[in-house]
Amino acid sequence: LEAAGLAAFREAGSPEAVEAARIEYLGQKQGKIKAAQQRLKQVEPSARKDYGQRFNAVKTALEAAWESAKARVDRPAAASGLDVTLPGTPRPRLGHRHPLTQTADELIDLFGRLGFGVARGPEVEDVFHNFEALNIPPAHPARDPADNFYLSDGALLRSQTSTIQIRVMERQPPPVRIVAIGRVYRPDAVDPTHSFMFHQIEGLMVDRGVTMAHLKSTLRLFAEGYLGTDVKIRFRPSFFPFTEPSVEVDMLWHGGDRWVEMGGAGMVDPDVLRAVGYDPEEVTGFAFGLGVERLCMRKHGIDDIRLFTTNDVRFLSQF
Ligand code: PHE
Repeated sequence: LEAAGLAAFREAGSPEAVEAARIEYLGQKQGKIKAAQQRLKQVEPSARKDYGQRFNAVKTALEAAWESAKARVDRPAAASGLDVTLPGTPRPRLGHRHPLTQTADELIDLFGRLGFGVARGPEVEDVFHNFEALNIPPAHPARDPADNFYLSDGALLRSQTSTIQIRVMERQPPPVRIVAIGRVYRPDAVDPTHSFMFHQIEGLMVDRGVTMAHLKSTLRLFAEGYLGTDVKIRFRPSFFPFTEPSVEVDMLWHGGDRWVEMGGAGMVDPDVLRAVGYDPEEVTGFAFGLGVERLCMRKHGIDDIRLFTTNDVRFLSQF
């Protein structure tokens, strides 16, 4: 019985053949093992102990033979060269959004909670929106070809997101409360805090009775919200052709040993409001333009702006 049973399991080449052998030898009703067990009753009492031990050994051997036959034929694709028991190919590593994209979303979210909607504008701008409507006259140094990326047809890559202030005010009457994030381009020498392309977040609020106090508290609330309540920012008097008065906003850099410019801001110049058809006797406004890379750098302790564009996964995977 034992030899025949082992051979039957060994030779079974398919799940069906293994099952047939199981029924023949190990089946609960008509199996040969069952029959051998029943014969125990007819064995002489003196021989029962030996018979029982032998019976158990054969049963265990056949059960083991069944298990290994099953394992052998249950690998369905093994015959076709595919071993499904081999370890699989590692799951592909998923990418994620670029740190600046994440930053942009955070900034939009923060200003959204302060009541600012989102606006957009083109990266290739005309001279009217980049300069003229912002009160920057033709001879102004900001228009210098050495300080801008002019295109052959007289358009240029925008040098500031303030262009979007004009586009929004052209489109809609006051009140206005928007932010706009986008790339700006200036042929600056590249160093750890400067690049020829960076992102700005522009803000514009125009309504009755808007004052410099609103501007300062908005920027303070924003800086504390994004960089933490222990952040230090300061306002310095400055000049922009399209705001009066104007300020530059600095933040105390990580490390705490130096101030780095966060951006420019001011009260929208009455001439700018008038040019888009707003009445400066009726409404006033503030505007600001902040450097997005620098905000992100300050928040995460990044010390070189070039890391954002060199696509080193060791850097990118930290966000
Ligand atoms: N556009 C200015 C710059 O690029 C920043 C600015 C925006 C200043 C809005 C005043 C108001 O530096």
